[in-house]
Amino acid sequence: MSAAGPPDYLAVNRAAWTRNNLDYTDAKADRNWAQTEIAWGMWKVPESQLKALPDLTGKDVIELGCGTAYFGSWIKRHGASRVLGVDLTPAQLTTAHRLNDQYQLGLELLEANAESVPLPDATFDLAFSEYGASIWCDPYKWIPEAARLLRAGGELVFLRSSTLSALCMPEEGRIGEKLLRPQRDINRLEWGGEQPSVEFSLGHGDLFRLLRDTGFGVLDLIEVFAPEDAFDHTYYSDISAEWARKWPSEEIWRARKR
Ligand SMILES: C[S@@+](CC[C@H](N)C(=O)[O-])C[C@H]1O[C@@H](n2cnc3c(N)ncnc32)[C@H](O)[C@@H]1O
Repeated sequence: MSAAGPPDYLAVNRAAWTRNNLDYTDAKADRNWAQTEIAWGMWKVPESQLKALPDLTGKDVIELGCGTAYFGSWIKRHGASRVLGVDLTPAQLTTAHRLNDQYQLGLELLEANAESVPLPDATFDLAFSEYGASIWCDPYKWIPEAARLLRAGGELVFLRSSTLSALCMPEEGRIGEKLLRPQRDINRLEWGGEQPSVEFSLGHGDLFRLLRDTGFGVLDLIEVFAPEDAFDHTYYSDISAEWARKWPSEEIWRARKR
């Protein structure tokens, strides 16, 4: 937070996610909560295939940027003892509360900025994010915050858009086979249009060093491709399945706090 107040992107992204909730995520949440298998990202690649997560049994887990908290619901059903979801957008949390009441899974939900979570140090065994803090928060703020919240030996697992997709994504329309921006500029990506938003995306070297310097050892970097039988996503249509079968559109980082 600067002396002038909270960072500019918080209000912009809260507005974007309030709109997304109305347009899409509230309805999608019912389908996702009804599912029990853990599956990652826009291509829904099963965890059984990617093996990105540690054993969840008995773990205390925090999701940073939980949205409608469907991923947290899967984590709870796979043995975690406590799952707490943090999100900035009240509309997303309203959907999460609705489904948490319906499924009686006992998730805890907290409205907060994932860059500054009002919880004590060393409280969780696993912190994760699937397109939450991992792309909507400043990595130089949320990764140290995740480190603070984790116990020694705890793990941080997050999915984000791949570096390559950030480099090839146009302002409008579909991703192509051309580099459209310098990698030096991708930490902060401002999207304009009808519903502006601000995303963050560090290159691999910078992200690796940030994790190392905040006390993590990197265990894995899993590049996620679209499966052979994947169809184009109906809502997130800017990346085609054809592109993502050739290049990884998403990546999962797994790191352990020393
Ligand atoms: C794509 S959703 C992630 C949840 C889910 N896994 C999904 O893919 O739909 C992104 C979420 O990040 C939240 N978010 C954006 N900025 C945030 C911040 N600074 N702190 C916490 N949550 C934030 C948004 O409110 C939104 O609910």
